[in-house]
Amino acid sequence: MTEVMLAPMAGVTDKPFRQMVRLFGNHKTYTEMIGVESLARNHPMTRKMMDIHDEKNVVVQLVGVNQKAMVYAAKMAQDMGAVGIDINMGCPVKKLISNGSGAALLKTPKIAADLVEQVKKSVDIPVSVKMRIGWDSEHINAVDFMKQLESAGVDSIAVHARTKAEGYSGLPHFDVVAEMKRQSRLPIIANGNVIDKTSAEAALAVTQADGIMIGRGALGKPWSLSEIETGILKPIDLEQMASQHFDLLLNYYGTHGVFIARKHLAWYAKGQKNVAEFCQKVYAETDCLKIRKIIHDFLRGKQ
Ligand SMILES: Cc1cc2nc3c(=O)[nH]c(=O)nc-3n(C[C@H](O)[C@H](O)[C@H](O)COP(=O)(O)O)c2cc1C
Repeated sequence: MTEVMLAPMAGVTDKPFRQMVRLFGNHKTYTEMIGVESLARNHPMTRKMMDIHDEKNVVVQLVGVNQKAMVYAAKMAQDMGAVGIDINMGCPVKKLISNGSGAALLKTPKIAADLVEQVKKSVDIPVSVKMRIGWDSEHINAVDFMKQLESAGVDSIAVHARTKAEGYSGLPHFDVVAEMKRQSRLPIIANGNVIDKTSAEAALAVTQADGIMIGRGALGKPWSLSEIETGILKPIDLEQMASQHFDLLLNYYGTHGVFIARKHLAWYAKGQKNVAEFCQKVYAETDCLKIRKIIHDFLRGKQ
């Protein structure tokens, strides 16, 4: 199986989540997208996202359109020990689109290519782009867009195989990724709806991609990347996983970690009996010890 990596997910792939994934293997993990303008303004939460100094195999994902701010952020990420810089050219969030960043860059290939060129000039580590296949079904420009990035010196491309207009639903268009792979010598990473070994093999068979990126398939299942890569399903102790993740969140965020933990705990419990009751209790509680007890009561002995 080719390389399996963790997709960037805002609000999810923070340091504690990456640590959970790393328990199961040295997968390449992406940070949440980090706003370069916000970083340039020294926003404390954004700066915290850059703190990867004690981790291995982390790619820092940057989002923005301002060249100077992008270069500043890229250099900082390199100094922090990032193994690569990734530029977000796929995010459909309105606030980003309205300032010309994220998926809006799909419509301005020259600006996108200039960003890549400037970042390439300023760091020694690989520079990648994560993109979608186009803006909407009338504007699928993945191959042309990729070629412009290639001329600008990009080192690899990860493709969420949907248009911006499709958001996160519908089947991914892996045929477009296959065409990108045919028309370029760049490493291409396929992304979209891969959740297990079967879906990974199907995506690889169509695209011939050099790697697979897992997003939602890792929610509440930080071991899923390892399962997909090795094909080996090891027994998992859900109580232990949820508790360990909870502790990492508290350690990293302090008491605020209790609030961040809620969605993760709900994802761990997904599919279990009494999940609604579990979530109701977790969401109503702010005391760490009581939350640990709820995890114990509901997830003890569960796989
Ligand atoms: C909660 C959430 C947050 C996301 N945040 C980012 C992000 O910060 N940067 C990015 O490039 N993509 C982001 N994505 C998109 C994912 O990286 C991925 O491309 C998409 O979810 C499709 O892959 P999947 O089907 O494996 O989830 C996000 C997706 C989700 C569900």
